[in-house]
Formats: sequence, structure tokens, C-alpha cells
Amino acid sequence: MSEIRLARRAAKLSTNFPAPHFPSELGPDVIPFDSGFAAPQLLPDLTEFAHAALNTHRAETLQYSPTHGQPELRGWLAGLMNEDGCALTPDHLLIVNGAKHGLELICKLLLDEGDAIVVTAPTYFTAIPIFRSFGVEFIEIGQDDDGIDIAALEVVLAQRVAQGQALPKLIYNVADFHNPTGATMPIERRKALIDLAERLGIFVVEDTPYRRVRFEGETIASLKALDLTGNVFHLGTFSKLVAPGLRIGWVAADTALIARLIQLKADGGSSPLVQRIIYEFGRSPAFAAHIERVQSVYRERRDRIVAAVRRELPDAVLAVPEGGYYVWLTLPAQVDGDALAADAAARGVNLIPGSKFFASGGDTTTPRNHIRLSYSYATPEQIDEGVRRLAISYRTIAG
Ligand SMILES: Cc1ncc(COP(=O)(O)O)c(C=O)c1O
Repeated sequence: MSEIRLARRAAKLSTNFPAPHFPSELGPDVIPFDSGFAAPQLLPDLTEFAHAALNTHRAETLQYSPTHGQPELRGWLAGLMNEDGCALTPDHLLIVNGAKHGLELICKLLLDEGDAIVVTAPTYFTAIPIFRSFGVEFIEIGQDDDGIDIAALEVVLAQRVAQGQALPKLIYNVADFHNPTGATMPIERRKALIDLAERLGIFVVEDTPYRRVRFEGETIASLKALDLTGNVFHLGTFSKLVAPGLRIGWVAADTALIARLIQLKADGGSSPLVQRIIYEFGRSPAFAAHIERVQSVYRERRDRIVAAVRRELPDAVLAVPEGGYYVWLTLPAQVDGDALAADAAARGVNLIPGSKFFASGGDTTTPRNHIRLSYSYATPEQIDEGVRRLAISYRTIAG
């Protein structure tokens, strides 16, 4: 087919879409350190809530849903976010089919081809192609253990102003248990980011899939809770806390922005059946018990992988995350994470090399000495065995 007939964004895409592989299809000998899937035993039994949804609430759940989402679910979510320091009404919320869907809608709302956006280096790798499909220019800003480097961001923005370049439209960030680094921004850093963005009129998009997957330490105010002017878009999801297959998330933003987002949401409304199941589950006592189990199972796995890395890979630098699904390893500068991932795959250990998390996309500026290990789907025994094999790969590659 002639590429000329396709939209510019589609003409560049590969015609070979690789078959997705699911960790559940792999044998027990393959270690899924690449997977952001939920631990199977943590998928909650929702039968009782599904039964109520399909019986008591049938007239609602088998009809179209309002495009902005089911009112009770929006009310409950606004309440949860208000307990977390926000001041929202249900009209500040839009139900979407997962956080990635919310992100795509925000891009539709804010971005024209050629606009600049700010991402961290590294950033959530699935967000990169979403942004790229809108034809953006990436501004990558480095991070330390406290998240995005605000001073570096200020310098880059001042340079753009000095050179007559437009300021970026948005700053995309994961402030709690960042994917892939696991870093959590302290309150001062969050306030500085909010102040800078507000002062310069740049929207902040806060992505929070791991916010309640916290193992220890105090919860820190979300960027949305610190936002007094409606400059922050907050993305929430049930994927990491409850089950990714539900495909339900939400956007919290200024009501005028939500009103416009609703008009851009062309899916006929997110599934009312799943919204009702989540709402019934969420207001039952089972929800709090579920969150505690999630935290406890992933805490144990986090501890297991940190101990295994310290034992088997003493050359790796790792900051212990206080929550979330991932550890990010920094290896000596000469070690190539891509080569390490390829060698590990040959030994039955799947992981994602760090280079995939940089919007620069593997050019000469992309750091290559990182890897990300996910501990959400691998069992404790697989964690020990996987890190043992990874250490063999490391010795092979590092020489
Ligand atoms: C930063 C980030 N955002 C969003 C998601 C999940 O998005 P969704 O709600 O679409 O499943 C993930 C999952 O890996 C993630 O790490």
C-alpha cells in the first residue's frame, strides 16, 4: 500500500506488529522481570460484585454509560482523592479506559504537531510512542533519587525563551514510585515543580498508577493536591492496584478542561458494567483488605529482589523504592544494558534494557548502562533464580 495515502503519523509505523507475548504463556523456567502484570494470586475475586452488577444493576450496566462515566464511581473517586488532600467534585473527573487512554485524550486536547513536551530521562516507555504519535519534540530532563531535576528544567526553559522558542505545552511525570526508576519526589521538589509550571503556564500531567502500592514511609501530597489553579491533569488507574484487565482509569482536572475532554472521548463511554463492578468492590470492606494484601505481597518481592541484587550483582547501584513494581539498576558505564538483556534472554530471563526508557530512542546520547527489573509477576523463587542467572550474564558481558 502506498504510504502517501496514510496520515503522516501512521506512515512511519512498522508494518510488522510483533505478536505480544504474555508471561502466562511462558514456562515456569522463563523469569518475567520484564512484566508489569499483577501477581496472579492478587487478582481479586469480583464474582459477587459482577453478579450484583449484572442483576440488580442490569438496566444500567448493559446500556450505554454517560461518556464522562458513572456518577457514583466519579463521586467515590472524588471522595478518595479528597481524603488524599484534593478538593474535587465529581465534575472534575472523567472515567477512561485506563491511564494510557487518559494520556492519549490529554494529548488530543493539548498538542499540535511540533509542540514541545517535557519528559524525565528515563520515562515510562509506553508514554513515548503515545506522545510521538502527536508529532511532538521531546525535552528530556534528568532525575536524581528525588525525581525530576527542577534546576536543570529551569535552565532548559530559560534557554528556550532566550532563543525565541516556544515553551513546552506539558510536563509529564510519575511522582510516586516512578516507572522505571522507582524514585518518589519529596514534597519540596513537588512544590517547586508546581510553582515553576504555573509561573510559566505549562500544564503538568501527573501519572499515579502506583500511588497506593506503598510499602513504607508517609504518603506525600500528590501534585494534584498541591495544584490550586487547575494546572495539573491527574491520571489514576485501577490497573496496578486492582487488575489491569479491568481497563478503567480516570482523569482529574479543571472542570472546563474535563468538559472538553469528554467531547474528545469517542468510545461511547467506558464499560458501565466494569465501572459498576469496581464501584461495588470499592465501597465494600474487601477493598481495604485487598490493598493491604497488594502492599504486603509486593513488599516481600521488593525485599527479595533487593537482597538478591545486593548478593549477586554487587557492582549494580540501586535505590530501594518505597513502593511500586520496579527496581532500576545502574551498572558500570562500560556495561551495555541491551547486550545484557539479550544475553539474559538466552538464559531464560526477560527484562527491559534501560535504553528503551529514553525518548531519545537509542541515539548516541542515550545512556546504555541501566536495566529495569520488575518484581510484580515473578515469584520469590523466580526472583532468586532470575537474579542468579542475570549475574552470570553480567559476568559474561562485563568481562
Ligand atoms: C507510569 C505508568 N502509567 C500508566 C500505566 C498503566 O496504564 P493503564 O491504566 O492504561 O493500564 C503504567 C503501567 O505500567 C505505568 O507504569
